[in-house]
Amino acid sequence: MKASHLSGIVVAALVMTTTSVSQTKSLSYKQDVQPVVKQYCLPCHLEESENPSDLFMDDFEKLSKGGRNGPAVLAQKPKESNFYLKLLPDPPFGKQMPRTKKKLKDDEVKLIYDWILQGAKP
Ligand code: HEC
Repeated sequence: MKASHLSGIVVAALVMTTTSVSQTKSLSYKQDVQPVVKQYCLPCHLEESENPSDLFMDDFEKLSKGGRNGPAVLAQKPKESNFYLKLLPDPPFGKQMPRTKKKLKDDEVKLIYDWILQGAKP
């Protein structure tokens, strides 16, 4: 009885360790963010789509140029980055992104947050 109780604790501890390892994984635009952008933000934010926001996500360089409302990504400051803020239900201007019914899952929003917090690496 006691032994099985203990092994439950050991398993829980192991799971927690694994989770924290994946949270400290170093995120990059190419590996982690681009697939999300492709799935949810394109083709609206391709340069050829003439998006009125002037924010283009053809690649990391274009995204880094920002849009009509200034820089989209401020490294290490997700709470000041439009690229993250526009994913929230009540963004500082305009509508919540993406402007489609298909919203990001919570862990995808968190991924964008963490990527910016880690320094928004290419
Ligand atoms: C259906 C088309 C569409 C999709 C899909 C879309 N956007 Fe947008 N986006 C727009 C339009 C139109 C605007 C300008 C109006 C506004 O700000 O709400 C905009 C504006 C923005 C801005 C503000 C840029 C600035 O400087 O004004 C950000 C940031 C942004 N989008 C991020 C995203 C992200 C991130 C995704 C994917 C998760 C996404 N959008 C998906 C159409 C879209």
